[in-house]
Amino acid sequence: MAITTAYRARSDALPLRSFKTKGRRSAIASVGVYAPEKVVSNFDLEKVMDTSDKWITERTGIRARHFAEPGTTTLDLATRAAKSALDKAGISARDLDMILVGTSSPDGPFPSIACRIQDELDAPGAVAWDLLAACTSFMYGLSTADSFIATERADNVLVIGAEVLSRMLDYSNRGTAVIFGDGAGAAVLKPAPDGAGFLSWCLGSDGRGYEQVTCGNVPLGAYAAKDPMPIIDMKGPDVFKFAVDIFIRQAQEVTETAGISMDEIDLWVPHQANFRIIDAAARRIGLPLERVAVNIDQYGNTSSASIPLALEEAIRQGRVKSGDNVLLAGFGSGLTWGACLLKWM
Ligand code: ACO
Repeated sequence: MAITTAYRARSDALPLRSFKTKGRRSAIASVGVYAPEKVVSNFDLEKVMDTSDKWITERTGIRARHFAEPGTTTLDLATRAAKSALDKAGISARDLDMILVGTSSPDGPFPSIACRIQDELDAPGAVAWDLLAACTSFMYGLSTADSFIATERADNVLVIGAEVLSRMLDYSNRGTAVIFGDGAGAAVLKPAPDGAGFLSWCLGSDGRGYEQVTCGNVPLGAYAAKDPMPIIDMKGPDVFKFAVDIFIRQAQEVTETAGISMDEIDLWVPHQANFRIIDAAARRIGLPLERVAVNIDQYGNTSSASIPLALEEAIRQGRVKSGDNVLLAGFGSGLTWGACLLKWM
């Protein structure tokens, strides 16, 4: 089947689903991150493809990204981030009830990265699986973890977003090769202390937009096509418009559902896809950039790792205090989206 589906997803026509948290509240107890040491600047890319530092900086806000060295796997990155998160939370891997890994770049189709990490961490018995919602994977993972804690089926959950996307880039594709980078972020979720935790969620997908961001031979299936290396492709300008709209609408949904005003958001941590997307949405939401976490300049788009990478940096910089209203929001291939509002513990 050839890709003939026209993109009909128009975010203003999408029915968004939002939910107020019910049951036992959960909260983010810690965030750990890891990015490979190798930094690739825009000037490095100028040497291998037809682009310029000026274009990349002006059109995306990206100045550099991290690339994994040959032999470094998604598992390696994810495990380092996970160990850091566990250390900061002060819990043992044996205390984990669940391990969820969001990734679009697993080291192989199976076993899951989650089961491999479980072995690396020595956390036998926990429920462990990978989930794929592209750049929204981390948000879907957080929401799943929150649901299990709310219904008392889990107490301690590790949610990870990890990617090695640098191996899925083709330097002849200028719209994608300059954007993506590698990295990992992990969060430990636990039952929240009184007054803290996740307040509201907005999650959804629109498969009508499936051809907007793709990787691999989607019409034939990667295995049927025997592609040696799946390559990321994207209809950039269309995704850009979708992204700005969905960021705005999600912010409206989660604040209204939680019963707080947009002015009361202390920090917005958006998926780092393009600084211009973040800036346009922040202006429309009415949030000054001092209240937005942005680190796309150093990492590019790390897909499922981008929200924890930006959140951890904000925590380290002292930009998140107990009692703050924090908005996390993502979107990605699928098309998919997810946002939540939480009161920091
Ligand atoms: N270097 C130099 N020139 C370039 C480059 C480059 N890397 N890329 C494109 N250009 C040129 C184009 O050829 C075009 O030239 P022309 O006007 O002579 O034809 C011009 O720049 C404009 O191209 P556009 O594609 O319209 O550029 P745009 O400003 O839209 O920026 C970008 C492209 C950065 C991809 C932007 O559209 C974007 O960020 N889109 C959203 C991407 C996104 O958020 N993806 C998230 C999902 S990822 C996931 O889920 C895995």
